[in-house]
Amino acid sequence: MKPIENLKHFENKKVLLRLDLNVPILNGKIVDTNRIDKIIPTIKFLLSKKAKIIIISHIGRPKGKVNKDLSLEPITFYLKKKINKKILLLKDNIYNLKKEDIFKNSELEIVLLENIRFYPEEESNDDKFSQKLASLGEIYVNDAFSCSHREHASVTKITKYIPSYCGIQINTEVEALNKITLNIKKPVTCIIGGSKISSKIKVIKNLIPKFDNIIIVGAMANNVFKYNGLKIGKSIYEKDLDNLINEIFLYAEKNNCKIYTPIDTKVGKNLNDKSTIKEFYDIEDDDMILDIGPKSLKEILSIIDKSSSLLWNGPLGYFENSNFSTGSFQVAKHIANKGEKIFSVVGGGDTVAVINNLNIQKKFNFVSTAGGAFLEYLEGKVLPGIKALN
Ligand code: 3PG
Repeated sequence: MKPIENLKHFENKKVLLRLDLNVPILNGKIVDTNRIDKIIPTIKFLLSKKAKIIIISHIGRPKGKVNKDLSLEPITFYLKKKINKKILLLKDNIYNLKKEDIFKNSELEIVLLENIRFYPEEESNDDKFSQKLASLGEIYVNDAFSCSHREHASVTKITKYIPSYCGIQINTEVEALNKITLNIKKPVTCIIGGSKISSKIKVIKNLIPKFDNIIIVGAMANNVFKYNGLKIGKSIYEKDLDNLINEIFLYAEKNNCKIYTPIDTKVGKNLNDKSTIKEFYDIEDDDMILDIGPKSLKEILSIIDKSSSLLWNGPLGYFENSNFSTGSFQVAKHIANKGEKIFSVVGGGDTVAVINNLNIQKKFNFVSTAGGAFLEYLEGKVLPGIKALN
């Protein structure tokens, strides 16, 4: 990928900057500004080079129709405050825009196009739409790793029609993920959790040949407990996955990768309950496994201690109830305290929420803001948005 930092001549050039400003918004207020905050350096870099910036982003899934609730208005407002510059949200139909008109007011340095997914052509990767978008600028920059798994007009097809570069954030993200999947400092451990094992099977399979340890936690682990004939009470699990789990264990054995699952639990009768430490044989029919127990925690921390690199995706328990947050919070704090001794990469909305909750983001080597793209990259897929930049 060609990084924008290598480009010398920006002055007055119109840069189409694809960002992922798809942040959670509640009653018109942004709930989590992380994704926006991370791309500020790219905007500041372009401003320092005197470029004129046309930001393209989507928010939500409006399915090709204008939806006022999914306007980029709150984001424009936040960006204005953050950058302390005048920023205009262009609500005009893109087909009516002309390059020479956008920055008629010569003091204006940044504009945002309204939610690009208001146009069905975005998701259908339409050729003419991509060409129209490209005609609005002179340089295209993709700094939206988290939607680079989408083959959409403003992510892939546009690169056919305009010189294309990668932004600062996307480059950092790819470098961190390569460091944990290609140029790994071993021993390397992956902690993988979440509710559905089926959604992460491909990631586990792709990591097995490269990783020394894979620790399966969260509700995903319930499937392995069940496969091993352990009691899980009324905990959630996915049916008919025994063959798949068997396949994973055989594949791991062949590749010398150890698969760990918790050896004791914390249960509750419902999600709002207090927690009770239980061995598997004590689990009752109306118990739900909602966190790892103290023996498992000790074992996981000692595996972390023996690792030089660590990838973490998915919390260890139902951390939303503080009675079941010990596993996730203790693991997060332990990794954070390792400092230089470990190279740590974390990704996925819930895992990032755990870290944000403890305010220890800076203690990890890399915290990804991506969801689907992060997982697809870890599955070993070449993301179309990245391929288009190469
Ligand atoms: C994300 O939030 O993961 C990206 O913005 C992509 O969103 P999508 O899943 O709606 O394509």
